Amino acid sequence: MADTITLQVTRYRPDIDDAPRLQDYEVPLREEWAVLDALNHIKDRIDGTLSFRWSCRMGICGSCGMTVDGDPALTCGTFLVDHAPGPVRVEPLANFPVVRDLVVDIGDFMRKLPTVRPWLVRDDEPAVDDVEFLQTPAQLDEYKQFSMCINCMLCYSACPVYGIEPDFLGPAAIALAQRYNLDSRDQGAHQRLDVLAGADGIWACTYVGECTTACPKGVDPAGAIQRYKLTAATRTLRSLLMPWARR
Ligand code: SF4
Ligand code: FES
Repeated sequence: MADTITLQVTRYRPDIDDAPRLQDYEVPLREEWAVLDALNHIKDRIDGTLSFRWSCRMGICGSCGMTVDGDPALTCGTFLVDHAPGPVRVEPLANFPVVRDLVVDIGDFMRKLPTVRPWLVRDDEPAVDDVEFLQTPAQLDEYKQFSMCINCMLCYSACPVYGIEPDFLGPAAIALAQRYNLDSRDQGAHQRLDVLAGADGIWACTYVGECTTACPKGVDPAGAIQRYKLTAATRTLRSLLMPWARR
């Protein structure tokens, strides 16, 4: 195995650069090094002006997502040896505006997320000390998969629909809505219906499935969307046939 590997890294400062360019950096090729370790090596030893986000180095914070050799990936969980002999291309996540170098602006997701009310909605509001909301393991299993989302945005980067229709609510926001819709303690599914079943919600998804392929946490946002399509269609049918019934 060679001692070093070349990283081709996007450099771009939108305020002064006309276009992004790739810059080559030679870094040690170590078996235990992830792409993020190589970027930190560049930052610490070669070029302190390189900008990228990271925090936990263990697949938890969701902030180190980038495009590695064309695929969206968590750079803390993507190892250099798997891309040897290189070069390894490291670019910002696709489908998001670039703030600088490898840092993208995820403000669009942050604005959309609250519209699906990603929290437990209750008709009653009992004081926390007064009540326990008991839940069986089977009830937990209903939504647990969707609760594993770390907001890493790999699914948005992989989604061709989001790429051409930026108003699309997107995979993670819908999966997170389902995380609460399927929670036995939640009573707010009817409050999420209009956004989820609206023109920019589930029906915009053409079930390409790239979101699920890209997801590093096994959330299966494509599955969440298809499941909710069935729920929304059933609710619409019920409201047509039984307009007096609660949505
Ligand atoms: S659904 Fe998966 S890929 Fe999308 S933001 Fe959540 S963890 Fe990341
Ligand atoms: S640094 Fe936190 S997920 Fe990679």
